[in-house]
Amino acid sequence: MSSETSENIESVLKETRLFPPSAEFSELANISSEEQYLELWNKAKDQPAEFWGEMAENLHWFKKFDTVLEGDMPNTKWFSGGKINACYNCVDRHLLTWRKNKAAIIWEGEPGDTRVLTYQDLHREVCKFANVLKKLGVTTGDRVTLYMPMIPELAIAMLACARIGATHSIIFGGFSADAVADRNNDAEAKVVITADAGWRRGKEVPLKSAVDDSLEKSPTVEKVVVVRRTGADVTMVDDRDYWWHELMEDVSADCEAVELESEHPLFILYTSGSTGKPKGVLHTTAGYILGTQMTSRWVFDLKEEDTYWCTADIGWVTGHSYIVYGPLANGATTLMYEGAPNWPDEGRFWEIIEKYQVNIFYTAPTAIRAFIKWGDEYPKKHDLSSLRLLGSVGEPINSDAWMWYHKVIGNENCPIVDTWWQTETGSIMMSPLPGVTATKPGSCTKPLPGVVPDIVSEEGNSLDDNQGGLLVMTQPWPSMLRTLYGDHDRFIETYFSKIEGCYFAGDGARRDEDGYYWIMGRVDDVINVSGHRLSTMEVESTLASHEAVAEAAVVGYPHELKGEAICCFVTLKKGDGSDELKQELKNHVRHQIGAIASPDQIRFAAALPKTRSGKIMRRLLRDIAAGKEQVGDTTTLEDYTVVANLKDSEG
Ligand code: WTA
Repeated sequence: MSSETSENIESVLKETRLFPPSAEFSELANISSEEQYLELWNKAKDQPAEFWGEMAENLHWFKKFDTVLEGDMPNTKWFSGGKINACYNCVDRHLLTWRKNKAAIIWEGEPGDTRVLTYQDLHREVCKFANVLKKLGVTTGDRVTLYMPMIPELAIAMLACARIGATHSIIFGGFSADAVADRNNDAEAKVVITADAGWRRGKEVPLKSAVDDSLEKSPTVEKVVVVRRTGADVTMVDDRDYWWHELMEDVSADCEAVELESEHPLFILYTSGSTGKPKGVLHTTAGYILGTQMTSRWVFDLKEEDTYWCTADIGWVTGHSYIVYGPLANGATTLMYEGAPNWPDEGRFWEIIEKYQVNIFYTAPTAIRAFIKWGDEYPKKHDLSSLRLLGSVGEPINSDAWMWYHKVIGNENCPIVDTWWQTETGSIMMSPLPGVTATKPGSCTKPLPGVVPDIVSEEGNSLDDNQGGLLVMTQPWPSMLRTLYGDHDRFIETYFSKIEGCYFAGDGARRDEDGYYWIMGRVDDVINVSGHRLSTMEVESTLASHEAVAEAAVVGYPHELKGEAICCFVTLKKGDGSDELKQELKNHVRHQIGAIASPDQIRFAAALPKTRSGKIMRRLLRDIAAGKEQVGDTTTLEDYTVVANLKDSEG
């Protein structure tokens, strides 16, 4: 564990402030008392089948399941015998109620254009696009890649896939053409949906041209659908590329939702692991939709009249679960914003909150730290009094950021839910319940019903309170990943082989004397840059693929805004390196992986510090990158002069 992590632990150990919810909030909350929480939690722990069977009554089933849970981790089957459709649950079901004309999606584009889709509108568009997919030859079980900006067509395309049982694989627009090709190939995608470009800080982010490049290496892709968003020039290839709006012109708005098995694959989402190759996390239909539906209700306290806004990009799991599936499964109104928080100025988010009278706001600590830096004058210019609940996700929130969020955005009047979860868990695992839990800044507090965590040693023994260790889950939950696409062995190896009988999350954590959990960060080679998960190994192998590079070691170091930044130690095949080469290597990484992986620092070194057995001493490199004195043990270091030289290689 890195020393900055231990510093965080120090500071969180000192955090004793307690913020209970107000009586007014509790009174109206979906879960409103500690007794109610404990009753749910204990029932879910002791009688999981009964508990989840009852919860599943909140969903629409074409045919009810025969059993709730079969098998145990790692190989679980939920709701066997049931027939269900996620799109039907998010859309059709609401048409039978007064929600037919309720806003499902309120969308605001970066340039200020807006669209509102009622549930009825959404239904029509989804059915039409599902018919488009069928016309292009997509059938139940096929994989479809979505590489799109944050526009309504992205949600429509997801739901259209779900409607016909095609498995979507969404790739964040910040990934490169190579990353798209790798993911297309791994998933054997048949069709790609994209746009000409998207808007980001007033500039066009080209998407179609990246898809064109990726297709040179993606032989499985037969057709491409392009949404016209910015009007950017694109090349359209005959019989391969089609405009969304043209295809939508002559299809019917009738399309039955396919009755799918509960375990039918809903989507694949690639995420970084501790080896170079991204992992295709697979989620299935019934368990995932149940998990996102219930947690949206419990954690965000969703009410019929709320305007709810999650600022994530749908390219990440937070957007999948808490912009699209969770809110829509509850018939809520979900707001979707296309662009950057600082366009045209740093007040954009607060302007949106005021304009739409947003009630629930869910964002990331990295964004909060940027807001603090930009200054209180931006939020102060706007009326934020509609807000009643705030959320945080993606990385540990430092107590300064928490307090600022509480005071400046929440006016000391909104509970903050610090939600811990992962791409793999599908839905929120640990979080305050806003009407129940007294929060402590920096703690994700307690497990939700159905989540039974433990903190264990490397050997798998349960640890006492306040001892830092590995965070594991001891019981299965419905929205957990079912496999890594095409690599079930890696799934078992990654999550279930480290600690016998448990799901290993990859995070370190501690539990305090009140039973509150404090996440201490990753214990593997994953780093968290601006709330985005990156594998240091992936960056390393990309650097090593450059002709000038002999060897590379990549570590994270603390960064004021990003949480962690990327430092690369590089040894060259020949020469001492130059500023031009540094830039070239940065560009190389951007090109191969994408802008999110762009290194903050490249340091050339004559050699990397290694143990006598040849292992790179990453802990030492982390300390050097963080500008710290080497506190740890370096007695196993092969050549001590290497360290002295590295310290001088700043830049
Ligand atoms: C980190 C994002 C502390 C953690 C939903 C986890 C957090 C990884 C929190 C998953 C939080 C997420 N407090 N750390 N509230 N939420 N993390 O898959 O290290 O993109 O393992 O899912 O983010 O990132 P992922």
